[in-house]
Amino acid sequence: MNKKIAIIGGGNLGKSIATGLLRANAVRPEDLTITRRKIQFLLSFSEQGVNVTSDNHKAVNESDIVIFCVKPHKINDILSSVKSDILKKKPIVISTVTGVKLTELAGILGSTTISLYRAMPNIAISVGESMTCISTNSQDEVQNNTIAGLFNVMGHSAFVDDDLMGAATVLAASGIAFAMRYIRAAMQAGIEIGFSSELSKQIVTQTVKGASILLQENNIHPESEIDKVTTPRGITITGLSKMELHGFSSSLVQGVLASFEKIKEVK
Ligand SMILES: NC(=O)c1ccc[n+]([C@@H]2O[C@H](COP(=O)([O-])OP(=O)(O)OC[C@H]3O[C@@H](n4cnc5c(N)ncnc54)[C@H](OP(=O)(O)O)[C@@H]3O)[C@@H](O)[C@H]2O)c1
Repeated sequence: MNKKIAIIGGGNLGKSIATGLLRANAVRPEDLTITRRKIQFLLSFSEQGVNVTSDNHKAVNESDIVIFCVKPHKINDILSSVKSDILKKKPIVISTVTGVKLTELAGILGSTTISLYRAMPNIAISVGESMTCISTNSQDEVQNNTIAGLFNVMGHSAFVDDDLMGAATVLAASGIAFAMRYIRAAMQAGIEIGFSSELSKQIVTQTVKGASILLQENNIHPESEIDKVTTPRGITITGLSKMELHGFSSSLVQGVLASFEKIKEVK
């Protein structure tokens, strides 16, 4: 992509996006700028030739796409402080900030003519495997394709209604943690039945990866694959029934719903 990109807020997600962009060769290091106040924590990026600064104005003024990756309680102040730069330079603005709607972002900027996007990736963006939900106020198909393309080089993306971005946060961004917890629990069980921690991790992670790819490539429902591996009176169905007895599916659904309730309190 032949565009200059700024990431405002080089924390966990900002650094993951920067890593994903560089890994995919989606931007040249010299066309990428990352900002934060404690720039000493961005040394690994400056060593690669990425522009690292605490000057948000400079970052916005020199970029075609500006991605805001700051905490929800900070977005108002930070976006307000670079408002005049954005209105003058008119970059494409992307916010990854949880719980702040497109209408609120437009309100802070005092403009409905700036193209605004919200993107909700997860930290697997650093390895090119994010699921990123995007919402926008832009009707510009070409620009929308550009933004989808930006995130597609770092995984998959889907446009959703802005009202679904909270749900996207829970299912995809928090979802990474939920998936990790499944993996950790399965690894623990693997150790109980005889594997070393390392081998248990290898078996479980590859099994989860295989399950995901099967579902993605064949476009099938998980239950039809489960049917293929559950012999009547067999080993797998015995394990599944025991898991459900202890609330496996129900606890997952309840956890997602609890996170979804909590997200309404953000800010
Ligand atoms: N982590 C995820 O998986 C994830 C996924 C999707 C969405 N999100 C959302 O993305 C946002 C960032 O999350 P995060 O986990 O990356 O948080 P984080 O690690 O706290 O990163 C935020 C960064 O903003 C920087 N910052 C603070 N004030 C700044 C300023 N005035 N100018 C420039 N940078 C400033 C901070 O660095 P300094 O203190 O050095 O300035 C900090 O490193 C949040 O709104 C979160 O809800 C996160």
